[in-house]
Amino acid sequence: MSLSTFPGLIDIHVHLREPGATHKEDFATGTRAAVRGGFTFIIDMPNNPQPTISLERLREKKQLAKEKAVCGLGFHYGTNGLNTDSFKKAAADTSVFGLKLYCNHTTGEMLLEDLTLLEKVFAAWASDKPILVHAEGVELAAAIALARLYDRRLHVCHISQATEVELVRRAKAKKQQITAGVCPHHLWLTEKDREKMGAWAIMKPPLGTEQDREELWVGIADRTIDIVETDHAPHTKKEKAGEVPPYGVPGLETAFSLTLKGLQDRHLPLRLLKELLHTRPKKIFAIPEQKNTFIEVDLEDTWMVDDTHLATKCGWSPFTGWELPGVVKRVVIKGKTVYVG
Ligand code: NCD
Ligand code: ZN
Ligand code: ZN
Repeated sequence: MSLSTFPGLIDIHVHLREPGATHKEDFATGTRAAVRGGFTFIIDMPNNPQPTISLERLREKKQLAKEKAVCGLGFHYGTNGLNTDSFKKAAADTSVFGLKLYCNHTTGEMLLEDLTLLEKVFAAWASDKPILVHAEGVELAAAIALARLYDRRLHVCHISQATEVELVRRAKAKKQQITAGVCPHHLWLTEKDREKMGAWAIMKPPLGTEQDREELWVGIADRTIDIVETDHAPHTKKEKAGEVPPYGVPGLETAFSLTLKGLQDRHLPLRLLKELLHTRPKKIFAIPEQKNTFIEVDLEDTWMVDDTHLATKCGWSPFTGWELPGVVKRVVIKGKTVYVG
């Protein structure tokens, strides 16, 4: 056994489902899944059944989380385009790390298709905290243009297509303040897996082609893509097996190992592991230093993904049965051991 010490991992994109859908996940089970995966700070998304688009909803989430979270937890504020009056206070809240907007249909009802409203949102978010977009294909081009017009920092969530990587690459070449995150499922799976796996591989954005997947790795290698984010989006087995399976897959417990495996297989520098999962997300979202916080991992040991050993309430993973490198052995947050593997 050879243990390496890392700073606590950071995931800026999780859906912990509380309040409103705690049969899928809650702040206790979701943060437990996080520490199992080596994460010590995560940021929750606003697309709850009653979306986090008012200060009252935000207060409610903070209150619920305070009693249950076993790791550091922050929030992204949401918008439907009609709550811009609350932006100033939301942006000033130290538990808020960004503004999330949905330009494409997904879980939750926060869709912003109307360009006029979208423009209003970019105009109104007068903050250094990034605007995060769920935008697919050409929607992304519109978001990039608006961010440039209003000088807003833009974070592109779950980048999945080769054309999107190229859009971000171009914006970066023009010195725009833009960053991009990629999910392990897009780095590892393609539409072919979707055909084999059915509902268990349905998520937004959908899995791409083999060429899309290749371009994501190129984007990691040339720094077009800044971070790995899980988009941990748990749904119950029953929901996934139903007539109309909801979009989303869990990811907190497999992200570290899948990233490590990809870097190893492609002979990319191992220092990227820390950059993609700690240093860069910390910098982009100005996440405060967690003192006496670290994880111990065995990079040489392997483990088998197994539904019965997962901490997420949904109890499944699209990677079940995969043998992965990198075992999290211990997680210490603010001097306290919160997980021993
Ligand atoms: C997410 C969810 O279930 O909340 N689903 C998904 O497929 N990614 C929403 C989202 O991030 O788009
Ligand atoms: Zn999304
Ligand atoms: Zn998401």
